[in-house]
Amino acid sequence: MFPQLVQVCQVMVIISFSSSITALASMLPPGEVAALRQIGKTLNEDGRVSFNLGDRCESGNVTIRRYPQITEMNGTIGCSCSIADDKFCHITSFELKDSDLSGRLPPDLANLTYVRKIDFTRNNLYGTIPVEWASMKNLHFISLTANRLSGYIPGYLGNFTSLTYLSLESNQFSGVVPPELGKLSILQTLILSSNKLVGTLPEALAQIKNLTDFRVSDNNLNGTVPEFIGNWTQLQKLDLCATGLQGPVPHAIFLLEKLKNLKITDTPGPEFPLLNVPEKMDYLVLRNINLNGTIPEEAWSVETTLDLTFNKLVGELPSNTINRQFTFLSGNMLNGTVPESFIQSNQYL
Ligand SMILES: *[C@@H]1O[C@H](CO)[C@@H](O)[C@H](O)[C@H]1NC(C)=O
Ligand SMILES: *[C@@H]1O[C@H](CO)[C@@H](O)[C@H](O)[C@H]1NC(C)=O
Ligand SMILES: *[C@@H]1O[C@H](CO)[C@@H](O)[C@H](O)[C@H]1NC(C)=O
Ligand SMILES: *[C@@H]1O[C@H](CO)[C@@H](O)[C@H](O)[C@H]1NC(C)=O
Ligand SMILES: *[C@@H]1O[C@H](CO)[C@@H](O)[C@H](O)[C@H]1NC(C)=O
Ligand SMILES: *[C@@H]1O[C@H](CO)[C@@H](O)[C@H](O)[C@H]1NC(C)=O
Ligand SMILES: *[C@@H]1O[C@H](CO)[C@@H](O)[C@H](O)[C@H]1NC(C)=O
Ligand SMILES: *[C@@H]1O[C@H](CO)[C@@H](O)[C@H](O)[C@H]1NC(C)=O
Ligand SMILES: *[C@@H]1O[C@H](CO)[C@@H](O)[C@H](O)[C@H]1NC(C)=O
Repeated sequence: MFPQLVQVCQVMVIISFSSSITALASMLPPGEVAALRQIGKTLNEDGRVSFNLGDRCESGNVTIRRYPQITEMNGTIGCSCSIADDKFCHITSFELKDSDLSGRLPPDLANLTYVRKIDFTRNNLYGTIPVEWASMKNLHFISLTANRLSGYIPGYLGNFTSLTYLSLESNQFSGVVPPELGKLSILQTLILSSNKLVGTLPEALAQIKNLTDFRVSDNNLNGTVPEFIGNWTQLQKLDLCATGLQGPVPHAIFLLEKLKNLKITDTPGPEFPLLNVPEKMDYLVLRNINLNGTIPEEAWSVETTLDLTFNKLVGELPSNTINRQFTFLSGNMLNGTVPESFIQSNQYL
């Protein structure tokens, strides 16, 4: 498509479809229209949601109505008229969060070859990740958070090398974390919490150098907390609560300078000391992980929540504290008195 035409298309789409030229210019290819219809049916098996999709690129909103009560929900099916060098517009994103969808993940999504973003957060979708999706190598963003999906996490996701965000949180995925995910070299967010994953965290994940957010809480993993997590120098958020993994937690994790939010709980293993933590963290939750020794000074500068409960920590509280929201220290072997500054501050202690 010529640049001038692209311009016309984008402007006119927003205004209306009054002229036949514009209507033509904003057409989706017949294959994408057919796929959209099928996708609507697959996502919405029980028919409680009416899912009307046109054959034009209206850059935006799909109206989703739910019966018997008619509730409009925000769904966005994005499209672009300048993404390909042809006379068509193409579907580029699916964002259908909180939309009461109760069907399966649609295999026909793979027919929409320009889709970059899939977000089906908080629906009731069930079944497995379709094998047809293996061809969707250009995806940048996948969130299937909070559905009822099951089966294995397919290794072919490792071929989606443009992926920066992957969340499969709060589903019923089983099997192991596939080592192929280590090929996702530009991935920034990987969230696998609250599933039924087993096995060890594969060494191959060490290759995802720029991860900023990694969460794998509430699974049935085995093996120890891997050393390579301490090499993820860009990490800002790490959740390892009740993973099934064993301690001791590698010391290098507590040296990650960018870490603002660290939660590790219920990790049995030999006793080990907490020698230091990054300064000015927002959340530091280290509950029931067999810490011994004293609490390092930097821990007292945690800003929002400090939870060091159910360890074997000894020593006294510092004479001054910042006005943090929550401090939890029970289930340790601390001694001495609680300084006035703790009692006078507004924090929940
Ligand atoms: C999607 O593509 C597959 C393979 O090319 C084809 O068999 C299928 O009919 C297409 N789906 C739709 C709804 O057109
Ligand atoms: C999509 O819906 C939102 C909220 O209802 C609205 O503000 C926006 O203008 C709509 N976009 C289009 C392209 O219709
Ligand atoms: C739709 O999105 C807008 C803007 O994000 C929000 O204000 C509105 O509450 C949403 N409506 C529904 C039904 O979720
Ligand atoms: C993933 O990519 C590799 C290398 O390009 C290829 O051999 C393999 O078949 C692909 N896997 C899938 C499931 O597409
Ligand atoms: C990681 O980030 C650094 C700095 O932002 C960048 O130079 C590097 O290319 C990134 N690595 C990968 C594999 O994307
Ligand atoms: C993890 O569990 C699997 C099977 O559940 C077992 O084969 C493997 O040896 C276990 N690995 C470790 C390190 O315990
Ligand atoms: C951590 O990174 C260093 C330096 O790149 C490397 O030598 C070491 O093997 C890595 N450790 C792990 C457990 O991956
Ligand atoms: C913590 O426990 C380890 C392992 O039992 C032990 O070697 C170390 O001396 C203990 N440190 C403190 C300060 O008690
Ligand atoms: C608390 O215990 C430490 C040894 O763990 C001891 O050095 C210190 O004097 C004790 N403080 C008080 C107030 O009992």
